[in-house]
Amino acid sequence: MAKLQDKVVVITGGISGIGKASADLFKEEGAKLVLVDLDEQKGNKIAEEMGGDTIFVQADVTSEEDAKRVFDKTIEKYGRIDILFNNAGIGATKPTHEVTYDEYRKTVNVDLDAVFLFSKLAIDYFREQGSGNIINTASMYGWIGAAGSAAYNAAKGGVINLTRSLGIEYAKENIRVNALCPGFIDTPIIPAEVKEALAESTPIGRLGTSEEMAKAALFLASDDSSFMTANTLTVDGGFTAQ
Ligand SMILES: NC(=O)c1ccc[n+]([C@@H]2O[C@H](COP(=O)([O-])OP(=O)(O)OC[C@H]3O[C@@H](n4cnc5c(N)ncnc54)[C@H](O)[C@@H]3O)[C@@H](O)[C@H]2O)c1
Repeated sequence: MAKLQDKVVVITGGISGIGKASADLFKEEGAKLVLVDLDEQKGNKIAEEMGGDTIFVQADVTSEEDAKRVFDKTIEKYGRIDILFNNAGIGATKPTHEVTYDEYRKTVNVDLDAVFLFSKLAIDYFREQGSGNIINTASMYGWIGAAGSAAYNAAKGGVINLTRSLGIEYAKENIRVNALCPGFIDTPIIPAEVKEALAESTPIGRLGTSEEMAKAALFLASDDSSFMTANTLTVDGGFTAQ
């Protein structure tokens, strides 16, 4: 039996890196997909290539209007929503003394505020349905400090504690909320020139792959993790154990 048979899954940042690999794996496991991202042309092409029971909705995850449209389209197409995968994110690497307040706000807006916005809207549907599951892509940088990415690290730390708080708040309503905390993963978010150094800094000696993150996301999305909520799954090649 497929692990996500007929489950309706909304994946933000669903057309690149970890989101796209998860979309592919979830589809293999029987899910019906709503991919959410910024690039309309690329998104429509991917949805078409993936075939039936996959739609793309162009949206900026920081826009309340766009977010509402994502849920409206999901309900219009499938009549329900089972799983929200809050995965869209942006990296931001720069010495803090060079970061403008606007840049800081943009990072926190995409990487943290949008997770709240989408979760809140999903919870309205989940409470009505009597079930639901939210997965948030945080980061190992939500656990540890690192120079040159203060805004990102603050946002991802926020995602971890938002996850705990929502998980506790809605546990008795059959709504699970967990976070995935990846280490360094080989996706477009990591600049090519630092990949080698990041791989060397990881105990396992390489970057993780999007496919490896998709398998961890599938665990959180499926009933395999049925007793897990308000918690985190760190998959980092050993980095945070150092
Ligand atoms: N790659 C890593 O090393 C790593 C490590 C830890 C955490 N993460 C997190 O994993 C998640 C996925 O990142 P990835 O590595 O697959 O990178 P990626 O760049 O391949 O994917 C991120 C996607 O999010 C989308 N996105 C960005 N801003 C958006 C917005 N405002 N509205 C809608 N979509 C938006 C992008 O267009 C892109 O498709 C992010 O939250 C990232 O912070 C990545």
